[in-house]
Amino acid sequence: MKTIFSGIQPSGVITLGNYIGAMKQFVELQHDYNCYFCIVDQHAITVPQDRLALRKNIRSLAAFYLAVGIDPNKSTLFIQSEVPAHAQAGWILQCIAYIGELERMTQFKDKSAGKEAVSAGLLTYPPLMAADILLYSTDIVPVGEDQKQHIELTRDLAERFNKRYGDIFTIPEARIPKIGARIMSLTDPTKKMSKSDPNQKSYITLLDDAKTIEKKVKSAVTDSEGIIRYDKENKPGVSNLLTIYSILANEPIEQLEERYAGKGYGEFKADVAQVIIDTLAPIQQKYYDLMESSELDDILDEGAEKANRVASKMLKKMENAIGLGRKRR
Ligand code: TYM
Repeated sequence: MKTIFSGIQPSGVITLGNYIGAMKQFVELQHDYNCYFCIVDQHAITVPQDRLALRKNIRSLAAFYLAVGIDPNKSTLFIQSEVPAHAQAGWILQCIAYIGELERMTQFKDKSAGKEAVSAGLLTYPPLMAADILLYSTDIVPVGEDQKQHIELTRDLAERFNKRYGDIFTIPEARIPKIGARIMSLTDPTKKMSKSDPNQKSYITLLDDAKTIEKKVKSAVTDSEGIIRYDKENKPGVSNLLTIYSILANEPIEQLEERYAGKGYGEFKADVAQVIIDTLAPIQQKYYDLMESSELDDILDEGAEKANRVASKMLKKMENAIGLGRKRR
């Protein structure tokens, strides 16, 4: 069985973009692969976080993973900081990476643009992500489009390490969904839907209630043409809503275009909102039940134990390959 690894940052709300681009795929893939899903809290602290909010967000993300359908009997769910090998392997991979290639990462450029104080961790974020992936001999990394460049760098680092020190890493591949890999902002459909957007109307969170979802979709930016058709270049807003509808209702976009021929944006938007509400309602129910149960901690304990076993073996291989420490007797 091939291995899958992916992670999500517990840095605030979880958006419909995270769900469509990443989590929905995870749930489908877990039946056919050996899966590791991680709450990457060490990545979250590359930008300032409130201590109590971070703790809450970690637990909340664990509950979301399970609420969307991650089955702990099939997949290993764990918190990055509870598996020390990630930070240790991350350090080694920082020593393999070049500053120039890290500075070229578009996420680093975006997140550091215009900021006076940028943490060193924001720059060395991708080698830690590479460690996450390589420690588990991962074959496939399901992610949204914004992570593609990081996976390419992971491949480069793995190949560089293998060439210099011996062939220990599997070279992973990104798996990016054909549609839904980049869900756009509702207020500016030329930008990615992002939890760090200061305008809350730009994204839908997995905990938004029906009224909020209706309001946000109703005010989503479209265009003045009045025709419901997919055209990403000229009609980014309508195309984004069609993408969301198509994925959540599992109906091809062409079929939706036919159904809404001659109909107005008002009716279309009301239906998009309803599809989102129907998708999120059962997830929210499960989420609230889980947040109150102790089941969550048991699952995370077991996940950390399994992840630690696998990751520490690979870390030893890395250290041996490089010559760190002493030869073990
Ligand atoms: P993060 O936490 O920003 O996002 C988690 C996942 O959601 C996807 N995503 C989207 N997909 C479609 N449309 C959107 N608008 C959208 N916004 C986010 C992301 O592509 C991602 O798959 N660096 C990663 C976390 C990470 C990781 C890893 C991922 C750390 N280690 C190892 C894979 C493997 C991140 O910041 O994702």
